[in-house]
Amino acid sequence: MIEDDEEKSYLIKMENNLVNKEKINIDDVTFEKVMFLYNSALKEIKTKIDILQDELKLFHNYEPIEYITTRIKKPESILKKMERKNYELTYENMFDKINDIAGIRVVCNFKKDVYKLVEIIEDFSDIRILNKKDFMKNPKKSGYMSYHIILEVPVTFSTGTMFVKVEVQIRTLGMDFWASIEHKLKYKNPNITKGDSKNLVKYARIINNIDDNILTISNRIEKERTKNNIMIEAADSKKDIEPNKFNFKL
Ligand code: GTP
Ligand code: MG
Repeated sequence: MIEDDEEKSYLIKMENNLVNKEKINIDDVTFEKVMFLYNSALKEIKTKIDILQDELKLFHNYEPIEYITTRIKKPESILKKMERKNYELTYENMFDKINDIAGIRVVCNFKKDVYKLVEIIEDFSDIRILNKKDFMKNPKKSGYMSYHIILEVPVTFSTGTMFVKVEVQIRTLGMDFWASIEHKLKYKNPNITKGDSKNLVKYARIINNIDDNILTISNRIEKERTKNNIMIEAADSKKDIEPNKFNFKL
């Protein structure tokens, strides 16, 4: 495992211009190179989750993921966020304090799938988990629900391996529907009225109820299927025994 200090010095070694304390300039080639690191990290985690999705389907007949989206934060948004949080605009602060430059969103069918995926991702042996936030158990005041993991993925370059941060958001289709709409409404209209905000919280609650009810149906169906499978297996095993009776020789 690479120690933190080693990593930072590696970063400087990898690109002579990329001095940690250097001020960010989104128009210069250093910024382009930094964004290349995040783009590479995003490709790595996307591939890992794509492979996981294929494996779960092929080996376990389990298809928890509806779709996956990825995005890189726009340079202006990175600066805006750093300014909002009163961070000096250096590459060091960008690396250390901004966790969502590379983002991947995994949208699942059921709440139980979200938790299953969290468990599986936690067990990926080569990633480092930095932080987890369960906004499903503890929704935000806005009504927002999702499961967030901040992790680091190893990215291998010609000169060595570097760990780069990615924000993983895992949520159900219902939560994704709500978050997308709410974001659009608030982005286009930051002065949204108290009444509208209240209604959005109410809709988040309604969607959560639907998620819970759908989960109940899914669990019931699964239970039935397991029961039926056991009955079929039992019947099959009985069948296996029967012919032996006739094979019995005196
Ligand atoms: P940000 O500065 O918003 O990134 O917050 P943070 O660094 O404290 O992280 P947090 O885990 O609270 O939120 C990270 C991300 O979750 C955001 O960038 C959004 O994508 C999403 N998110 C958080 N709260 C909301 C919300 O109320 N509505 C919507 N639509 N998305 C949200
Ligand atoms: Mg964000």
